[in-house]
Amino acid sequence: MSTLANGIRHLPDYLDRAAQEHLVELIRGIVAEAPLYVPEMPGTGKPMSVRMTNCGPLGWVTDKEKGYRYQSFHPVTKKPWPAMPQELTDLWERLAGHPKPPEACLINFYSDDAKMGLHQDRDETDLSAPVLSISLGDSCLFRVGGLNRKEPTGSFRLSSGDIVILGGEGRLAFHGIDRIYPGTSTLLRNGGRINLTLRRVNS
Ligand code: SIN
Ligand code: FE2
Repeated sequence: MSTLANGIRHLPDYLDRAAQEHLVELIRGIVAEAPLYVPEMPGTGKPMSVRMTNCGPLGWVTDKEKGYRYQSFHPVTKKPWPAMPQELTDLWERLAGHPKPPEACLINFYSDDAKMGLHQDRDETDLSAPVLSISLGDSCLFRVGGLNRKEPTGSFRLSSGDIVILGGEGRLAFHGIDRIYPGTSTLLRNGGRINLTLRRVNS
């Protein structure tokens, strides 16, 4: 972990199997109400390989026309996002070190060949709050660098139950997912990886 910038924390195996299974059940309920959709890159409209949905008062979305943003409703169904489960708010209270509750939980689903390019999470007004990330299902190779795209990066594996916190000086660190390691977890019946990121959006 010596390569991690200040404020970036990796908590391996933070959630035990029962807690992971419980979160998956909650996510199934959320996805039944707010289906996974295919996000598009701003401008080009190129589809991302990750499918997304959200819960909480706000959700992070992106499409060709309007680009990256937060909004209070699902882009396809137009319905408000499902409520944030108390379990996620509790985790945030325990780990985030921030007085206000999370407003958005972005739910990313990665199939075997999905990945996410190097990016910063910078669509939030309140950058004093960390981004808290939970990994469920198959392992992945997580890449993280500095505050500048050109700075060197390092990578490490994230496994089911791991938590990563991007806070402090690391809040705007570039990060991405290089690859998924199929068949490395039995948590999700049909394989793949789920990532949850809890975010505070407004100051
Ligand atoms: C993200 O940066 O939004 C996702 C990170 C991850 O999947 O672990
Ligand atoms: Fe991100």
